[in-house]
Amino acid sequence: MEPEYYKGADAAVYEHAHGDIFNSIEQPRLRDMLHQAVTSIRTGTSQIKALDFGCGSGNLTRHLIELGAHTTSADLSDDFLRDIERKFSAGGLSETLKLNGKDLSNVPDSQFDLVATYSVLHHVPDYLAIVRELCRVVKPGGVLYIDHEATETYYQRPPVYVEFLRKARPRVNWRRFVSLLLDVRGYVHILRRLRDPRYKREGDIHVWPDDHIEWDKIEQILAGERFEIVAKQDYLLYKAIYDLQVYDEYKDRCMDERVLIARRRTQ
Ligand SMILES: C[S@@+](CC[C@H](N)C(=O)[O-])C[C@H]1O[C@@H](n2cnc3c(N)ncnc32)[C@H](O)[C@@H]1O
Repeated sequence: MEPEYYKGADAAVYEHAHGDIFNSIEQPRLRDMLHQAVTSIRTGTSQIKALDFGCGSGNLTRHLIELGAHTTSADLSDDFLRDIERKFSAGGLSETLKLNGKDLSNVPDSQFDLVATYSVLHHVPDYLAIVRELCRVVKPGGVLYIDHEATETYYQRPPVYVEFLRKARPRVNWRRFVSLLLDVRGYVHILRRLRDPRYKREGDIHVWPDDHIEWDKIEQILAGERFEIVAKQDYLLYKAIYDLQVYDEYKDRCMDERVLIARRRTQ
């Protein structure tokens, strides 16, 4: 069940490859939003228990622990989980959980004050079932945090967004070109992509105009599970390859990602 892409996952390589996550604009935005999520919790606890669902190399885990939360980092990848143990276990606020990719059947109801997931739902075949599972394990008064999932702008490509991408991205991305050339395992994926234009190394993911995360369905589930929306913010994701000046010019004009914070009603 572990996706091929994350087998033998090397956290340092993962973080180097994700200039869209590990950069000096996205990280402070993420930290501020997680802080808002933590301050929205109404469970009355003095020690927050958080779940980082699809933790990868510990992007959210690091922020959650810095915010004082005891954090369960959950993933399909044994390599990522080992890396999390190596990096975070000494502080006493970290534990890991191996996922099965389909549900959270080994987790009882109402376990966490905060359940957070970032850049994961579009990797999950039945992501709506997972949203229901994430709701199930939030305590009454607890908070669900969903971040780094695309908005309609990403798929519909309005003219202003196309203009932004044309101006912000380098004409030739030499760094990517060279890393592709040197990545011997990558040639197999290039060949597969030539055969099937929808093939993605990361597996069967929802990133296509006719098959992508539908926020209205997520919100319907949240309403049905008695969650109230505390914050919903669209933003233009900053990628390290972008021209910063162009990004600043367009960041309030087109937004391609969403973060949503919702709290489970207590009655
Ligand atoms: C793009 S990475 C994001 C990792 C991390 N949240 C971050 O912020 O860097 C996607 C993560 O989702 C995990 N994943 C993929 N399919 C999954 C599934 N069906 N259930 C749970 N996690 C999954 C992968 O192992 C990987 O760690």
